[in-house]
Amino acid sequence: MKNIFEAPFILRMRKVTQNAYRMGWDERNGGNISCILDEEELKDYLDLNHVIRTIPTGFDATPLIGKIFLVTGTGSYFQDIGFDPESTLGIVRIAKDGTTAELLWGYKGGGKFTSEMPAHLMTHMARLQKDPNHRVVMHCHPTNIVAMTFVHELTDKAISHSLWQMITECMVVFPDGVGVLPWMLCGTNEIGIATAEKMKEFRIVLWPHHGIYGVGTDMDEAFGLIETVEKAAQLYMMTAHLPRLNTITDDQLRLVADAFHVKAREDFLD
Ligand code: 13P
Ligand code: ZN
Repeated sequence: MKNIFEAPFILRMRKVTQNAYRMGWDERNGGNISCILDEEELKDYLDLNHVIRTIPTGFDATPLIGKIFLVTGTGSYFQDIGFDPESTLGIVRIAKDGTTAELLWGYKGGGKFTSEMPAHLMTHMARLQKDPNHRVVMHCHPTNIVAMTFVHELTDKAISHSLWQMITECMVVFPDGVGVLPWMLCGTNEIGIATAEKMKEFRIVLWPHHGIYGVGTDMDEAFGLIETVEKAAQLYMMTAHLPRLNTITDDQLRLVADAFHVKAREDFLD
């Protein structure tokens, strides 16, 4: 068996969580990440027949039966994941009943996966339907995008349009726009269902006054998506109280989309 602490998926999780912490997106235990692992790759690091214990998910995840996830632990501090991955992370497989997770590694000391597991697993289900290469769900609390949800109209169209206008390349990175939920109680199946519903259309979903969800085919892609949205929100917050003398017009946004061969959501443009 190879040393799991040197596995690429653990090293990448350590890198991403350390970077997210330094970006100020993950105060205390704020934020969580889940990543679908490749069973063939994992076999070199773990005995997949050895289940340490089982943990109920609290909802039916039948479409994910047999899938294996690397998931941050509830209450774990992002700044700790880098130096103590075995206590702060876990590897779980969705059991045959669809409602139980089998712990294969991690959560040392008795921990369990994030309280946002419903939103993560339901988002994985929604995104796998859209994109078979989908792998990662990342949730965090970036300062400026959360600030923006206090001062900006909370519709998918209005917020996507404002963010696109902040940096020319936003249209290239998220031409599909950004979805926004109403304020809802976090950690519940209800917010999971609402998030996954938005994820049928978007790769970014905002939870007003709380944070953001981003998805990707790998951790760097999910991170980069959130990073771009947060940068645009920072520019918005830096300029929102000042007279707007210049902007990127809708025709210019269309020009960018055409040049980079992406399809902008035409219903979000005027
Ligand atoms: P967990 O510690 O359970 O992952 O919760 C953090 C969080 O951001 C809740 O939305
Ligand atoms: Zn949160």
